[in-house]
Amino acid sequence: MSVTVYVPRDATALALGAQSVADAIAEQAARQGQAVRIVRNGSRGLFWLEPLVEVQTARGRIAYGPVRAADVPGLFAAGFLSGAKHALRQGATEEIPYLRKQERLTSARMGLIDPRSLHDYCAHSGYAGLRAALAMEPRAIVQAVTDSGLRGRGGAAFPTGIKWRTVFDAQAPQKYIVCNADEGDSGTFSDRLLMEGDPFCLIEGMTIAGLAVGATRGYIYLRCEYPHAQEALTAAIAAAYSEGYLGADVLGSGRAFDLQLRMGAGAYICGEETSLLESLEGRRGQIRFKPPLPALKGLFGCPTVVNNVISFASVPSVLERGAQFYRDYGVGRSRGSLPLQLTGNIARGGLVEKAFGVSLRELLYDYGGGTLSGRPIRAVQVGGPLGAYWPESKFDTPIDYEAFAQAGGMLGHGGIVVFDDTVDMAAQARYAMEFCAIESCGKCTPCRIGSTRGVEVIDRLVAGERAALQQTLLRDLCDTMLNGSLCALGGLTPFPVLSALDYFPEDFSKPAKASARS
Ligand SMILES: Cc1cc2nc3c(=O)[nH]c(=O)nc-3n(C[C@H](O)[C@H](O)[C@H](O)COP(=O)(O)O)c2cc1C
Ligand code: SF4
Repeated sequence: MSVTVYVPRDATALALGAQSVADAIAEQAARQGQAVRIVRNGSRGLFWLEPLVEVQTARGRIAYGPVRAADVPGLFAAGFLSGAKHALRQGATEEIPYLRKQERLTSARMGLIDPRSLHDYCAHSGYAGLRAALAMEPRAIVQAVTDSGLRGRGGAAFPTGIKWRTVFDAQAPQKYIVCNADEGDSGTFSDRLLMEGDPFCLIEGMTIAGLAVGATRGYIYLRCEYPHAQEALTAAIAAAYSEGYLGADVLGSGRAFDLQLRMGAGAYICGEETSLLESLEGRRGQIRFKPPLPALKGLFGCPTVVNNVISFASVPSVLERGAQFYRDYGVGRSRGSLPLQLTGNIARGGLVEKAFGVSLRELLYDYGGGTLSGRPIRAVQVGGPLGAYWPESKFDTPIDYEAFAQAGGMLGHGGIVVFDDTVDMAAQARYAMEFCAIESCGKCTPCRIGSTRGVEVIDRLVAGERAALQQTLLRDLCDTMLNGSLCALGGLTPFPVLSALDYFPEDFSKPAKASARS
């Protein structure tokens, strides 16, 4: 009888040698005459253990990691095909504490299934949400999403049901569903992991959205830096078409939903929904004035739902298990769960999906295990390149949109980037301005010119040239960017800059900096 061995094919595992591990396993098995079926799954999101190889045994899946190709002969010799002891053995995968303590609603199938197999997807309750939706009135689908309390996971946390209702109510011969898969925020990868590990889930969520609002066409706008997600989605879309889950007659319902994948060209601003739509229409990615909202006048001037990958991927479980089930997770107005991404200088980086309410401290220490360098954590940046830098005193803030906003931060797409005590916060503040200058779409002055001036002012401040004056100038400039920018790129760049200045002022004065480093 053949033994099933799982070797991830997601970008992280591949970057760490997963392909050579898979090849070595195939070669060793052939040499020993062992029948082995290698399944290329997505990542479980436990990056410090990648490539994480799993073996299907009578006692469930047993994990080994991090496995290098050179470890493979030793694993075979130890009897890993029957789950035997080895230095790399991590035990039953589901019992690894990092995984066991999570609340995986959206990423439940990630790493578990073969992302290329529609059959495997359906065997793990895939398409149960779509089947439920097909039995409902479109209005009731919108209501279920509203009742679930789901808010957009792309950054702005806008209630998904309200957006869908606006498109539902709009009268137009053509409406569109657009998935924002640009995932430009530093330190974020949950969209990628989902698309590489469970692509049908996104397709199912978008199809349900189409049924709900009366849209018959959808587009996934994927960043070009994600070739493995592109492969996985291309294969999954083709399979969904051939099995009747997409096309002119979705599952024999008489309802149509067509889906296409489009590749972006790698601009951060193309993650902003109006720039994304410009880019999708074949123009340069530049912000559109709002109003009109994309929900009323979006792609090709038609009513359009634009949602993030995780927002769409959260919908199937809402339809399958009910709005109340999803709503029962979370705190306050932050309902359900959020796939958080731990990265930067962290011992155990990866994906941690938890119900809202878990504290930043728990994520950093209980899950993340502190820094990789072993030095104290000095700062974390939550919410991508436009998020504030927080010191230790803020670590007890719960993961909750309102609590973060109240504390002067934002959750964004759930990326958490960790820095130890060797970080230079003035350099980080400068980087925030520089990033804005490079990525600015150029449409408004506070961002286009302000960010370049911001870099210059920080340079003069750090050099000690009339420091008090530069501080005043910098704060004044940030105020102009905050209040005068057309979109959140220029409008939020002051957050990382001012938080660095407010919480880590010693890094901006030359002598103090020198002694702090000694
Ligand atoms: C500069 C900028 C970059 C953005 N990048 C992304 C992105 O990469 N992915 C994303 O989903 N949303 C991004 N957003 C948010 C989108 O504009 C929009 O709010 C989101 O796609 C709506 O989907 P949601 O309601 O499901 O979050 C960005 C916004 C701004 C201002
Ligand atoms: S703030 Fe202005 S210049 Fe900057 S990206 Fe937005 S619209 Fe473009």
